[in-house]
Amino acid sequence: METQTLEHSFSTYFNAKPEFIVRAPGRVNLIGEHTDYNDGFVLPMAIDHAVWIALSPRDDAKVRVRSLDLGVDSAFDLLSLTKGEGWLEYIKGIAFQLQKAGYGLKGFDAMMTGDVPRGAGLSSSAAVELATARAFAAVSGFTWDAAQMARISQKAENEWVGVNCGIMDQMASAACEAGYALFLDCRTLEYQHAPLPENTSVVILDTSTRRGLVDSAYNERRSQCEEAARWFGVKALRDVSVEEFEKSSGPSEVVMKRARHIITENARVLEAVKVMKAGDVKRLGELFNASHNSLRDDFEVTNKALNQIVECAQEQPACYGARMTGAGFGGCAVALVQEEDTKEFTNAVSVAYKKKSGLDASVYVCKASEGASVIKG
Ligand code: GLA
Repeated sequence: METQTLEHSFSTYFNAKPEFIVRAPGRVNLIGEHTDYNDGFVLPMAIDHAVWIALSPRDDAKVRVRSLDLGVDSAFDLLSLTKGEGWLEYIKGIAFQLQKAGYGLKGFDAMMTGDVPRGAGLSSSAAVELATARAFAAVSGFTWDAAQMARISQKAENEWVGVNCGIMDQMASAACEAGYALFLDCRTLEYQHAPLPENTSVVILDTSTRRGLVDSAYNERRSQCEEAARWFGVKALRDVSVEEFEKSSGPSEVVMKRARHIITENARVLEAVKVMKAGDVKRLGELFNASHNSLRDDFEVTNKALNQIVECAQEQPACYGARMTGAGFGGCAVALVQEEDTKEFTNAVSVAYKKKSGLDASVYVCKASEGASVIKG
């Protein structure tokens, strides 16, 4: 993204140069799927697709935002927030939760743009939320605490927008470092920056399928996991080891399948971090494959297109491993690929996927980017 375009549009629209430009990225999750709301472990990476906001403070409590991509202008008052519909709700939700947490906010004029594909499972909404939080921090002059801002953004999404997500997406967008994945303990929010394997590309494969009703399926998985935790007598499935699980029966077959995914996935994340540190990309790829199988067979959140694209990827000699990523039911897969053969890989997968499914994939070869930051001002 050329921020000059954004800066120029701001200047033309508001008749002055912006004082700040902030940026917050989308994310791809490498491994640790549906573990965040089970107090477990995740390993996302911020991607080089993001949301940018150019802004200048105002003297009153008004927040005026123009979306460069949609060509629409919207505004609200910080002192009288009411719920409505559409993209502005993410921004209002952040304003509401920041004020609720005691932050004194200043109004601003802003121009916003972004290139995170929407609805693909790459957390375009977390990118908007964290960019907004970063914008308020810049104009209002409070210090940036990544974990605190991620929690506030998650609350905005849960309580204002009404989507019951976990903490992974917001933490990835808030706290990642360029060149690293984020190994996050979703119970404590402690994290480490985990080095990515050398000479390896992280390739996002968008199936181009989107499924409605994701929310209800997501909420159903959440309650099945809670039921399993109650059955084991623990706070969350994070507290059950693979050994304990293997010795147990359970309330029902389906609930035990869900639990098996979460418990084995947590173990896979811990192993993934170890093998990444050791530079064992081959084993990391095997863990990707095992994660996909578990999401397909036990957690049952893949769809036909995701299974097909993952198979197409796994068949390529340059591929170490591939899996669906994000909530599932449609959207994207992620593959680990030998860097020198990335081009051949992406071409071959696109052709094979088209042949198998009749659909066109979008492919993004991603760089691990930095979390929310002020890039000007
Ligand atoms: C969505 C949610 C996350 C997480 C993933 C599944 O992206 O927003 O909190 O639960 O699904 O891992």
